[in-house]
Amino acid sequence: MSPSAEIMDFEFYNPVRIAFGRDQVKKIDKFVPKDAKVLITYGGGSAKRSGTFERVVEALGDREWGEFGGIPANPVFEYLMDAVENIKTEGYTFLIAVGGGSVIDGTKFIAAASLFEGDPIDIFASGVGKGLPVEKAMPFGTVLTIPATSSEMNPITVVSFEELQAKVSIKNENLFPAFSILEPELTYTLPKRQLANGLSDSFVHVMENYLTYPVGAKLQDRWSEGILHTFIEIGQEVLADEEIDYNTRANFMWTVTNGFNGFTASGVPGDWSSHALGYEITALNGTDHARTLSVILPATMKVRKKEKWDKLLQYAERVWGADSGDEEARIDFGIRKTEEFFRSLEMPTRFSEIGIEETDIDYMVEQLEVHKRDRLSERADQTLDISRKIYEMAL
Ligand code: NZQ
Ligand code: ZN
Repeated sequence: MSPSAEIMDFEFYNPVRIAFGRDQVKKIDKFVPKDAKVLITYGGGSAKRSGTFERVVEALGDREWGEFGGIPANPVFEYLMDAVENIKTEGYTFLIAVGGGSVIDGTKFIAAASLFEGDPIDIFASGVGKGLPVEKAMPFGTVLTIPATSSEMNPITVVSFEELQAKVSIKNENLFPAFSILEPELTYTLPKRQLANGLSDSFVHVMENYLTYPVGAKLQDRWSEGILHTFIEIGQEVLADEEIDYNTRANFMWTVTNGFNGFTASGVPGDWSSHALGYEITALNGTDHARTLSVILPATMKVRKKEKWDKLLQYAERVWGADSGDEEARIDFGIRKTEEFFRSLEMPTRFSEIGIEETDIDYMVEQLEVHKRDRLSERADQTLDISRKIYEMAL
């Protein structure tokens, strides 16, 4: 560790009220103002099929409410704008998202756009809009149905633009949910693929803030390692087809939420290049977000071994128990174990498994440039050439 490395200055703020456990949806009555006119948002239908939507309606009691469904995975700007129009006509004052990252992120955008003066595209940067600040947003709560993104406890939204083939995030503290309901039983209807996606996405969120360079942040490192250990411990149980165990799902849900709610990121450098490279893949062919990450993270570890040496070694030793061989052998062991972990969840680790070919790489690198992702990683030293090498490593 370089002697000057120290914990970075930071502000920590996270106002999200969490209601966790069994039968929590009814607390919506306590959390939502009595005179609110509520718009309930949801995705392709799982919220209705599982009965969760009806439970939300019941909890709202006499409040006026309406609905906006069909929010697609990787929520699309143009589609979300229909909800913004609807809100302006109908005068809704509060939003409740029932779903996963896509519905919650879509709702965050709707909350911001419906109070934005001007063209809402301009709240996005990254070559899409003007990057104007979100000064205010409509209050909203969430009922989480898939643990994966931590969107339920962070102020981030990721929105896709179909024509531009762009996927862009915004972080703004007006985008924290007022509350999030976390009922582990709501995960019982999730297909195996989505459970594996959730475990993998959150694993990579932790790695983005951990696999950088050491600053001597002992608690943040132990938090991160604790989360990674938990995923490794419960991964197979979460996917198990036999009778579902409540505590396994409860651990899964709360651990995922803690993967990207600000704690592990406090005072430490952040990378986020795996996410940036992954967004270009989803924008190109619609691959599930998590499945881009399980391919890109191991490739990044290999290409960026030298830059991330100290933390890779710490990761290999503390997370995977590497205790023999020289430093490089331990690091390589850690990288191998990471790939094996993803594969044990039936996640892809190569481009061939997610429909990306060598001929796509030029386009993805061009798109990284268009979206101003040409100086990535914790030291802003991941140039387009390095990103290209990572894409090539993933072939
Ligand atoms: O649309 P429905 O019918 O609800 O089906 C969904 C969807 O098909 C289904 N599902 C959700 N809960 C279910 C269920 N099926 C059965 N039972 C349930 N209980 O699962 C599918 C995936 O849902 P989605 O919300 O897309 O998944 P996820 O939570 O992984 O969200 C992914 C989106 O979040 C963004 C991703 O880029 C992607 O757009 N992210 C958001 C982040 C944030 N806000 O902080 C950070 C992440 O890094 C990520 O980028
Ligand atoms: Zn993610």
